[in-house]
Amino acid sequence: MAGVTDRPFRQLCKQLGAGYAVSEMAASNPRLWATEKSSRRTDHDGEMEPKAVQIAGADPQDLADCAKFNVDRGAQIIDINMGCPVKKVCNSWCGSALLQHEDLVEKILHAVVNAVDVPVTLKFRTGWNRENKNALRIARIAEQAGIQMLTLHGRTRADGYTGDAEYETIAAVKAEVRIPVVANGDITTPEKAKFVLEQTGADAVMIGRAAQGRPWICREIDHFLRTGTHLPAPLVNEVRALMSEHLQAHYAFYGEFLGVRTARKHIGWYVRDLAGGEEFRQQMNLLESTELQLDAVDAFFKKQLSFSERLQYRPAAVAADALAA
Ligand SMILES: Cc1cc2nc3c(=O)[nH]c(=O)nc-3n(C[C@H](O)[C@H](O)[C@H](O)COP(=O)(O)O)c2cc1C
Repeated sequence: MAGVTDRPFRQLCKQLGAGYAVSEMAASNPRLWATEKSSRRTDHDGEMEPKAVQIAGADPQDLADCAKFNVDRGAQIIDINMGCPVKKVCNSWCGSALLQHEDLVEKILHAVVNAVDVPVTLKFRTGWNRENKNALRIARIAEQAGIQMLTLHGRTRADGYTGDAEYETIAAVKAEVRIPVVANGDITTPEKAKFVLEQTGADAVMIGRAAQGRPWICREIDHFLRTGTHLPAPLVNEVRALMSEHLQAHYAFYGEFLGVRTARKHIGWYVRDLAGGEEFRQQMNLLESTELQLDAVDAFFKKQLSFSERLQYRPAAVAADALAA
C-alpha cells in the first residue's frame, strides 16, 4: 500500500503474524528508479523473507526491466499492480486502468514472467466497472502467462473504495484457476476473514486498511482461524514497546525531517479509537522533532494503563470524558 507498507511497517506486520507483506508500488518508469522515494520503496535491508516488490506501469518492456532491477536488489517475488484506481496512476494507463486492455495485460504479464526467475504475482480488481467485470478472463490470461498467485480486491476500478467489496467474483476466479487466489477487500475482523475464506474458497486473505494502526490484526485472524477463539486485546505495555520500536525504525528509515512527518499518520491510526486519541492526534501533529514525538506517544500509552492493562477501544465521547476525569 503506497504511503503505508514501507519497510518498517512490513517488518512489524510480519513480526505480528502476517505471513506475507508486499512493498509499496514501485514505478516501472526507469527515470524514476533512482529517486529517493523509489529507492526507499525498494529497500529490503534486514526484512523478513519473502521480500515482495510490487511494480506499476503500462509498458511491457519497462515493467520487465523494472522487475529485473528489483530482483537484482533482492526482491524474491514480483507483484504487478493492476488494482490501483488512483487517477494519477490510471491516467497513464497503469493500475486498474489496464484491465480495459486485455491484450496489453497479456503482453505485460508475459514480459515480466519471462524477464525474471522469481515468482510473479498479480494484484487486480474485479473489472473496469460493474458492467465490465472481466476478472475471470484476466485470471485465465494470468494463469496462462505463468503468473503464480492472484490477489483480487472485490471491487471494480469505478467503485474506488465505495460500497462493499463483493466476494462472488473472487469465488468464481478461485473456481476457475489452479494457482493460489488471495481474497481482498473490507476484511476487518477475524470473523470476516473466516466468512470470506468460506465464501470464496480462497487460499488466503489480504488485509489492507484494517492493519493501519492495528498490525497485530494478522495474529488475531490467524489465531481465530486455527482455534475458533479470540486472542485477548494486546497489553498496553506491549503496544507501548512495539510503537517505540516501530517509530524508531521509521525515523531511522526516513531521517529526522521526513520521519517525524510521515510517522504522524501511523500514530493517528494507532490512537484514533483509544481514550483521548483524537485530542492527542491533534497535539502530536504540532510536534516537530522525533524525540518529542516518541516521548509524547509513550506518555499517551502510559496513560492508557490507568484505564486497563489491555488496549481498550472506546467511542471518542467516552474517551474524552475519561481523560478529563
Ligand atoms: C492508502 C492506500 C494505498 C494503497 N496502495 C496500494 C498499492 O500501492 N498497491 C496495491 O495493489 N493496492 C494498494 N491499495 C489497495 C489495497 O491493497 C487493498 O486492495 C484495498 O485497500 C482493499 O483492501 P482493504 O479493504 O483490506 O483495505 C492501497 C489502498 C490504500 C487505502
